[in-house]
Amino acid sequence: MVHQVVALAADVPPGTFLDATVGGGGHAAALLDANPDLDLLGLDRDQMALVAANERLARFGSRVTLHRARFDQLAEVFAELGHDGRLSGFLFDLGVSSPQLDRADRGFSFRHDGPLDMRMDQSADRSADIVVNEYDRSELIDLIRRNSDERFASRIASAIIAARPLRSTAELADVVVSAIPAAARRRGGHPAKRTFQAIRIEVNDELRVLRPALEQALGALIGGGRGLVLTYHSGEDRIVKHCFRDRTTVAHHHGLPRGLPVAETKIEFQLLRPAARQPDDQELAANPRAASARLRAIERLAA
Ligand SMILES: C[S@@+](CC[C@H](N)C(=O)[O-])C[C@H]1O[C@@H](n2cnc3c(N)ncnc32)[C@H](O)[C@@H]1O
Repeated sequence: MVHQVVALAADVPPGTFLDATVGGGGHAAALLDANPDLDLLGLDRDQMALVAANERLARFGSRVTLHRARFDQLAEVFAELGHDGRLSGFLFDLGVSSPQLDRADRGFSFRHDGPLDMRMDQSADRSADIVVNEYDRSELIDLIRRNSDERFASRIASAIIAARPLRSTAELADVVVSAIPAAARRRGGHPAKRTFQAIRIEVNDELRVLRPALEQALGALIGGGRGLVLTYHSGEDRIVKHCFRDRTTVAHHHGLPRGLPVAETKIEFQLLRPAARQPDDQELAANPRAASARLRAIERLAA
């Protein structure tokens, strides 16, 4: 959804645009091309992504600063870089990148045989191996349910435990497929897709860091600045939706003495479109992974 992102960022004030998930730098390059008044601060927790982004964004020279960090460490990043902490805009393009999925040795994909890894940050302690081979049954059921819309979580958890030790993504994919009733295997893409997504979200603790990260980025936005978030499944979209809704509605202060000034109810943000935008047909043809993408956008009102 690069076009929609670029269009929504077209009118932001000059300054720093934060790409919290710079990945291979595709969105970043499009944003920099379209907005000559913007510099870009690009974060990623994946060192390989930063190498790719560095190459792709080299032509923008000093307009680009790339930094390895988890996106909920924004305050530390600003401090480390001596940045004033004011943002003209931000983008979170969540989830996993194509290069991460396509490289078998990263262990993200049920389509390529690789190690049970799935770590975005390759220096992190928890890999898919630990989740798959060490979590107990109830932990597995819980994370599969929570992180995907998988109906057969308990059958899959039992099958994983019975097949231990599992050593590769191909073995895991086979075990998951065999645990799903044959009639249900034909629906909704590859039958192992949802379980792989769920394990990846657990390995990278993706949902827990999202709201604090959004709050920090919103806090850094200057008047007229815009925040854009692309999500790829309902669990993360719900977090973004609630966060944006809470910042754009007046809280009801029941039980407060009448006449008391309630300064914190001032609304500082507005949603740019009430509903999440979805990819158009052209985008779907170019990138089938965009099928589940939702774009949400918010603007900080001028003071
Ligand atoms: C969908 S890709 C971004 C692709 C990018 N927009 C582009 O155009 O190439 C998501 C990226 O976010 C990174 N990522 C995911 N969660 C992160 C987090 N909590 N902190 C920092 N980076 C994260 C991943 O490593 C991955 O490279």
